[in-house]
Order: sequence, then structure tokens, then C-alpha cells
Amino acid sequence: MSKRFEKSFFITLEGGEGSGKTTQINRLAEALTGLGYRVLTTREPGGTPEGEKIRALFVRDTGMNWSPMAEVLLILAARAMHVERVVRPALEGKNIVICDRFTDSTTAYQGYGRGLELSAIDSLTKSVIGELKPDLTFILDLPPGAGLSRSTKRLARDHQNENAAEDRFEKLELSFHDRVREGFLDIGKREPERCIVVDATTGVDKMARIILDATLNKLGN
Ligand SMILES: Nc1ncnc2c1ncn2[C@@H]1O[C@H](COP(=O)(O)OP(=O)(O)OP(=O)(O)O)[C@@H](O)[C@H]1O
Ligand SMILES: [Mg+2]
Repeated sequence: MSKRFEKSFFITLEGGEGSGKTTQINRLAEALTGLGYRVLTTREPGGTPEGEKIRALFVRDTGMNWSPMAEVLLILAARAMHVERVVRPALEGKNIVICDRFTDSTTAYQGYGRGLELSAIDSLTKSVIGELKPDLTFILDLPPGAGLSRSTKRLARDHQNENAAEDRFEKLELSFHDRVREGFLDIGKREPERCIVVDATTGVDKMARIILDATLNKLGN
């Protein structure tokens, strides 16, 4: 069997609402699968039946008013399950794991967005997932106005399906999303070895090429 089938590698896609994460994860997974890699795609919050329950609590606009710390604890409960049951086993089984949002979203949303101490988020995260870090993270950067209008269009289109109610964050004010964007960009600057910031105003095909090239480069192809 070719070596390329046997690679454990952890990729995360991060960025604000409507920045194209799901679109690009599908493209990247398809391209890598076509090249012969074993690929698992997953998402946070969620990725396990238990985590999906928490996702529903967390992202649906049900009139709840979670404090920032409570949000982090919900997310981390889902992450604990996801890492233990899905991410670690897949990496141990030499898969490429591509995850839609991970720790950087917690830093950007609950830290920069909602004002929780970054050091508190870091230490809680460490207690839950230990030293696990993505090998490569793409930060899809888009002005929040553009991302929200894309997301709103998608939500309207999805109104019949199960994603329809996932609009709690879409409803927050633009300044919140500006802080989230700044958070992602700061993370990219702090960890340039791991993070690649991709201009998400670019077309889908061009973004997909940039993301695939950078991934193959890091994988050593
Ligand atoms: N590069 C792009 N240019 C223009 N439109 C795009 C681009 N990428 C994705 N879109 C469109 O924008 C919308 C949101 O894309 P997508 O669902 O991939 O983003 P997302 O980051 O996963 O959003 P969310 O955070 O809401 O899950 C979709 O309708 C998609 O077709
Ligand atoms: Mg998405």
C-alpha cells in the first residue's frame, strides 16, 4: 500500500459565519480522497450524538442566555466527547481528519467576541484535550457583513431542513463579529507555523486550490 494512505494529520477550518468552511471542507476531502488518502470530516460543536445534542442547545435561538463561561463549558463537554470518541481514534487509525471549527473558534467567539479571559479558555481546553493541536489550520477571512449575508441567504434556502434554526450567532450585532474576525487574525499572527489565513472573498475554486496546495505541501507531497 502506498505511504500516502497511512498518514495521520489533523486539519481544521476556522472563520466567521458564511466564510466558506463547509464548502471548502467538502472540496478538500474530495480532492484528498481522490489522491488516495483516507479522510474523515467532522464538525464542532458536534461530531458525536452527544455533541450534536449540545450543538442544538448551543446554536439554536431558544431564548436562552448562556454566560460566556457556560458557553465554553458546553463547547468543551462536546469537545471532550468528540476528541475521545472520534478525533483521536481516527488519527490513531492514520486518517486525515478535517474538522469544521475547533479550539480557535472558542478563542475567537467566547474570548474575543464575548470577552472571556483567553488564559482561562486555554487552561480549560488543555485540561480537556491535553496537548492535541491541529497540524494545519486554515482561517477563512471575510468581512463579517459579507459572511452574514451569505449565511442568511443559506439559512433562508435551508428553511426546511434541520440547519434552519442555527442562527443564534447570526443574530448578534456586527461589532461582535468584528471582534471575532480580529480574534482569528490574531491567532493567525501568533501561530504562523500552524495557521494559514485565506482571503475568503476569493472564488470557491481558487480558495480550494490554495487550500489543497498548502495541505499537500505540509503533508510532504
Ligand atoms: N468563495 C465563495 N464565494 C462566494 N460564495 C461562497 C464562497 N464560498 C461559499 N460561498 C457561499 O456562501 C454560503 C456559505 O458557505 P458555507 O456554508 O461553506 O460557509 P460556512 O463558513 O460553513 O458557514 P457557517 O459558519 O454558517 O456554517 C453558501 O451559500 C456558499 O455557497
Ligand atoms: Mg458551515
